[in-house]
Amino acid sequence: MSIFLDSSKIDDIKKYKAMGIIRGVTTNPTILLKEGVVGGMKGVKARIIEIAKLVDPLPVSCEVTTNDKQGMLDQALDIASWAKNINVKITIHGPQGELDNLSVVHELETKHNIRVNVTAMMSAQQCYLAALAGATYVSILSGRVNNMGYDSVEEIRTLRKLLDDNHLKSQIIAASTREVLNILQWLKAGAHIVTVMPQFIDGMIVHPYTKETVQMFLNDAAKAST
Ligand code: E4P
Repeated sequence: MSIFLDSSKIDDIKKYKAMGIIRGVTTNPTILLKEGVVGGMKGVKARIIEIAKLVDPLPVSCEVTTNDKQGMLDQALDIASWAKNINVKITIHGPQGELDNLSVVHELETKHNIRVNVTAMMSAQQCYLAALAGATYVSILSGRVNNMGYDSVEEIRTLRKLLDDNHLKSQIIAASTREVLNILQWLKAGAHIVTVMPQFIDGMIVHPYTKETVQMFLNDAAKAST
């Protein structure tokens, strides 16, 4: 069970890597844009290579930016060549439900030996099919699942059982963290990995009663040194 950082911000990645608590990094086009990465694929390449070097040998996910079948294949081959610890993110289907994506995933995993993180999934059944297609990682956007009124914990529990019972190698990444509570809840439900936004890692660490206790220690240490 491990925690990935869901960010492309270099300072954040350095900070949590130095703490020794993250085991990988995930990004997507929205995260990259929010964190100031512009300049198309050139900009994305520069940032992802920087991250990959920084966390090597930990894995880094980088998403394709097209839903055209050949375009996804070409971009995936390119992205995977940037560094050995980069895996390629591909959505389960296109914006209109186009169905080319799983064949791209299957081809990348079986013919090109490229690790794929299948993303934008909202249910155990989608993740199960991505696992059958050979995906290394299956990302269930669990916070979005909850937002729609479905129970992400049940989906993760069902999915983990399906993967284990069928001896499928895919690792479940629970993503779209919305609350500090999500992290242990999703790991406990069976996710192999939860990818966490930086603010929620801080929320896991800092506790008001710990603050008070530490202050007490410091005050008493000061008194004792007079
Ligand atoms: C990570 O792999 C996902 O892309 C990310 O967690 C999605 O987060 P969001 O649902 O907040 O956009």
